[in-house]
Amino acid sequence: MVVDIDDIDTVAVIGAGEMGRGIGAVAALAGYETAVNDIDEDQLADAREQVEWSYDKTVENGAATREEVEAARDRLTFTTDFDAAVGDADFVTEAAVEQQAVKEDIFADLDETAPEEAILATNTSGLNITQLAESTDRPAQVIGTHWFNPPMLMELVEVIMTEHAPESVGDTGEALIESFGKTPIRCKIDIPSFIVNRLMRPYGEAPAWMVYRGEYSITELDSAMKYKEGFPMGPFELADYTGGIQIRVEGEGDHLEDDRPMAYDTEVCPLLHQLYEKGRYGRKADAGYYEYDERDEPQIPVDAGQGVDTLEVWAPIVNEAAKMVQNDVATVEDVDTGARLGGNWPMGPLEKADEVGADAVLQTLTDVASRQNDTNKLAENLPCDLLVEKATTGETFY
Ligand SMILES: NC(=O)c1ccc[n+]([C@@H]2O[C@H](COP(=O)([O-])OP(=O)(O)OC[C@H]3O[C@@H](n4cnc5c(N)ncnc54)[C@H](O)[C@@H]3O)[C@@H](O)[C@H]2O)c1
Repeated sequence: MVVDIDDIDTVAVIGAGEMGRGIGAVAALAGYETAVNDIDEDQLADAREQVEWSYDKTVENGAATREEVEAARDRLTFTTDFDAAVGDADFVTEAAVEQQAVKEDIFADLDETAPEEAILATNTSGLNITQLAESTDRPAQVIGTHWFNPPMLMELVEVIMTEHAPESVGDTGEALIESFGKTPIRCKIDIPSFIVNRLMRPYGEAPAWMVYRGEYSITELDSAMKYKEGFPMGPFELADYTGGIQIRVEGEGDHLEDDRPMAYDTEVCPLLHQLYEKGRYGRKADAGYYEYDERDEPQIPVDAGQGVDTLEVWAPIVNEAAKMVQNDVATVEDVDTGARLGGNWPMGPLEKADEVGADAVLQTLTDVASRQNDTNKLAENLPCDLLVEKATTGETFY
């Protein structure tokens, strides 16, 4: 199996959509012979055009020279021929549609066609990587490499391990990500949503419950998190942007079939159901938490969040972060790096906990949970042992 970064010369990417094309562009620019494969000719043509555009931008921005970009173009091919794309690959990353069955078929095909020493990775946002590994005869050589959008610009990549993959394969994956000029963080256990999206969930969820309970308004919370705390977007603005309402409602119950550690076990806030039933999926539907008929950006007054205690939003996120550390999913540093580079947050949740004190976080979490009648939801907000320990001993995370 490939265990040394120096053994990797050739990269293949399966799926030429938004992510696959960007990953291919990064790999070729970093010096790898790269093939991007898709079943759809039109997607490949679009991908080629978009990569040309982004390479031109890279030169304009001074991030690469014209010669470097020309050399990358020569190293990058777009093809519908799966066998040609992966036949010589040392590292393959799959970035096809987010459907477990489609990905399992692709992994079985990769296992048959890619060289037997090749590492096979997936860009899934949260599907079961352990099952993907098990659909091959080389489960030890399967990992997740979860990129952020757009790959050319976003610095973070999560490297996700399964119980089948040894440390050495994760190390090689991280070394490769570094050679691409990106920053890897390690998700040591295959859990739903991995590190960054795991933090994003309470960022959307806890504020939705606060609005549902009538404690704050949508604009108050968005304004507070954006302008007082310095997040790039408030939780509702972000959910409208990413389609979070639809993703959460349609994904409710997924945990019933997920036997991975830390599988979710909570219900979606009724506020999301109400919006979903009205077809208010977010920006792409012209309405979500906000209306988008006449303007692109929601109007969020800078001073609307003055009365919001932002620690109420932070506390469940800190708790989720501490749970990941407690369960040895990720280090304190990797959790915070994920939040800063993956979410563009002003600081990581565990840095925040150290800044305000774990005891203050615990107190706020308990207060919020006590206002919540829904017992199911209460369970998610129960403080984890590590947070309680930090609060009691006065120890910090760093
Ligand atoms: N878009 C994001 O912001 C984002 C971020 C991180 C991870 N991801 C993940 O990356 C993956 C790709 O997402 P995307 O947004 O690029 O999707 P996309 O819909 O833009 O592209 C998916 C591509 O896969 C192709 N495809 C489908 N079946 C295929 C097959 N059998 N073989 C080859 N190609 C096939 C489709 O033709 C399409 O071009 C998903 O798993 C997604 O969850 C997406």
